[in-house]
Amino acid sequence: MVTEKTLSIAFHIYNTIAELGPEDKQLCLEAEKALNSSYSPYSGFRVGAAILLESGKIIHGSNQENAAFPSGLCAERAALFNFGSNYPNEKITHIAITSYTDKFVVENPVTPCGACLQVLAEYERKQVSEIEVLLYCLNGAVWKIKGAKAFLPFLFFENRLNRSDDKTA
Ligand code: THU
Repeated sequence: MVTEKTLSIAFHIYNTIAELGPEDKQLCLEAEKALNSSYSPYSGFRVGAAILLESGKIIHGSNQENAAFPSGLCAERAALFNFGSNYPNEKITHIAITSYTDKFVVENPVTPCGACLQVLAEYERKQVSEIEVLLYCLNGAVWKIKGAKAFLPFLFFENRLNRSDDKTA
């Protein structure tokens, strides 16, 4: 028998950054600051990320490109690996992401790629709590979405490595 299932996700849309609470707004502005260190000569597409830790510490990351294209890294993973390398015993509460290009006006918030979501999920699993993701469109909307699983419900989790522990559906 075939069973059809529907999954839905809830997220919040703020029309402008001004509608956010002060902490979320500040983190979006930190992501905007991180755009300055983007090294993106090949795409011309700057991405900035800022991570807020439980301790209040903020960590930046930006996309770093390479002439050998796959060797580059997204802003989210640059920030997340900075976190993992330098603050291994802390917890992430929020990550804000924004983008800019002088080629066109970015009209929607940038959304993280699958690889970045996979890495985000790993740190959520490690710290046993989900992370709030703020997707900030400069001079536009902010989408607030909680947890990597909201983006990718069928994400690969480490429980897939254990034969009898897969309770996906
Ligand atoms: N990029 C990010 O840094 N994060 C995303 O969420 C999407 C894409 C970067 C990778 C590359 O340097 C450029 O944006 C164009 O894909």
